[in-house]
Amino acid sequence: MEEYQGFNMASWDERAPAHAASPDYAVEKFIADPAYLSEVVRFDLPRLGDIGGLRGVHLQCHIGTDTISLARLGASMTGVDFSAPAVEHATDLAGRTGADARFVCADVYQAADAVGRGTFDLVFTGVGALCWLPSVQRWARVVASLLRPGGRLFIREGHPMLWALDDERDDGLLVVDYPYFERDEPMVFDQGGTYVSTEAEFTHNVTHQWNHGLGQIVTALIEAGMEITALTEHDSVPWDALPARMTKLEDGEWRLTDRPWRLAHSYTLQAVRRG
Ligand SMILES: C[S@@+](CC[C@H](N)C(=O)[O-])C[C@H]1O[C@@H](n2cnc3c(N)ncnc32)[C@H](O)[C@@H]1O
Repeated sequence: MEEYQGFNMASWDERAPAHAASPDYAVEKFIADPAYLSEVVRFDLPRLGDIGGLRGVHLQCHIGTDTISLARLGASMTGVDFSAPAVEHATDLAGRTGADARFVCADVYQAADAVGRGTFDLVFTGVGALCWLPSVQRWARVVASLLRPGGRLFIREGHPMLWALDDERDDGLLVVDYPYFERDEPMVFDQGGTYVSTEAEFTHNVTHQWNHGLGQIVTALIEAGMEITALTEHDSVPWDALPARMTKLEDGEWRLTDRPWRLAHSYTLQAVRRG
């Protein structure tokens, strides 16, 4: 295991149980209401289309709430995550909801070895996934290797321009402080807390992260044998990415309170594996 994986895994292992217990991940709603879908999946319903009958793999599935939402839309889902506690919570939730979803503990770069090559109709990922990976080219090759020819990638992700902003200012300015482009050196953070409401306190707080420019992501996918079929930039993001400067919307998304048109907050990108 590389150094970055050890730091990041320890951080996620500790946060997964707190996330499963937080109202923000709405685990109880999944159990109480068999039709309940995560806000992330609901947001993209018009772009997802009919996924009934598809074999899907969800990379970096965390505690499985989006994975189970996709299963509820009719896909047969496999979730992959390198955090054993996250996979345990996801497996438990699938059992309690009867969802057509199974979960495998593996690093994303080893996903094809773990779940099989060239057989999936759909790769779904995003919402705080790419920032944990040092190479977007390597990720794109994994995506392509999982898909059958004609299979589709669907990713909703925080926009690299958003990731590049200083998220601790309180003066209303949008200040570019972190790399926009992927660099070899990780950004190393030492931050307690997490992005959902919880009383839990954490001890594993050092993480290694990378940004990836939008052009780098698109180019990596094309070079891996994918054809880009859709790219939509959004003026909202599913979490409170710039605390004290965003307003929560009715659909659970967050948007800059002041002149949100200044910033692409997130994007949904789709691509199909060439034959
Ligand atoms: C922000 S969370 C997942 C976001 C997901 N959309 C959600 O909210 O449920 C990021 C996930 O990536 C996983 N992860 C980070 N680095 C990974 C890696 N190298 N291989 C596999 N999973 C990884 C973490 O364990 C965590 O569950």
